[in-house]
Amino acid sequence: MLAYLLEGQGTPLMLIHGFPFDKRLWQPLIPYLHTDCRLIIPDLPGFGQSPLPDQPLSMENMADALASLLDDLQIDKVVLAGHSMGGYIAFAFARRHFDRLFGLGLIATHPAADAPPKRAQRAQQAAEISLHGLDKLSREMPPLLTADPAWQNFIAELIRDQKADAVAAALKAMAIRQAAFDLLDDLAALPVALISGEQDNLIPPELYQRMRRHLPQAVEARFPKTGHMPMLTHPQESAQALKAICPSK
Ligand code: MLT
Repeated sequence: MLAYLLEGQGTPLMLIHGFPFDKRLWQPLIPYLHTDCRLIIPDLPGFGQSPLPDQPLSMENMADALASLLDDLQIDKVVLAGHSMGGYIAFAFARRHFDRLFGLGLIATHPAADAPPKRAQRAQQAAEISLHGLDKLSREMPPLLTADPAWQNFIAELIRDQKADAVAAALKAMAIRQAAFDLLDDLAALPVALISGEQDNLIPPELYQRMRRHLPQAVEARFPKTGHMPMLTHPQESAQALKAICPSK
């Protein structure tokens, strides 16, 4: 069973954190959402207070863990919003549990799989983290994600709090994930929000444009001078975009 936070009232909206964070990542967004949405905010397997399962992690088994959590909470359908790796998991969830979705929020994420050099880099990073822990990652990753020093400190602390074996397992899981381009046309039947930063080093602009072309109905919140953490730097506008894809009460 995953650890989770439940907050607010309204349309069920599940928020999936990215790599290598936990449910606290969403704290700054809660005040903008909790009067309209019933927020379900899990720790992914191995992260925060959720145990790391015995079997290797994959986007698919993490998506299934989220579906089981919804079963336990007796929630049939949700708006699902994922940040970065959380978006990769949201794609896997859509592939496996499409009928449980009211809508999809894709935050600083994309549908591509890793190219071979990226896979090799992830394998090396996973080995290094298993040996030496998360100190280096907590120093090197935050400036790549946002230019804002306060948010850098916030996410560095979240990284330091994670378990090295879970972070290594998630790197390996991302390296073997499936691309989701084939899903995009089906997703065009759903309300979708695309929330992103124009200066996100992790998402090539052509990938973003490709998603947009396939999802002409999407609500867009794209912020200039913004990196990989748009929901932290622009919580109010990000929340607005998510509320726009919630079915009316
Ligand atoms: C994330 O922010 O969840 C990850 O950095 C995404 C990735 O490494 O592909």
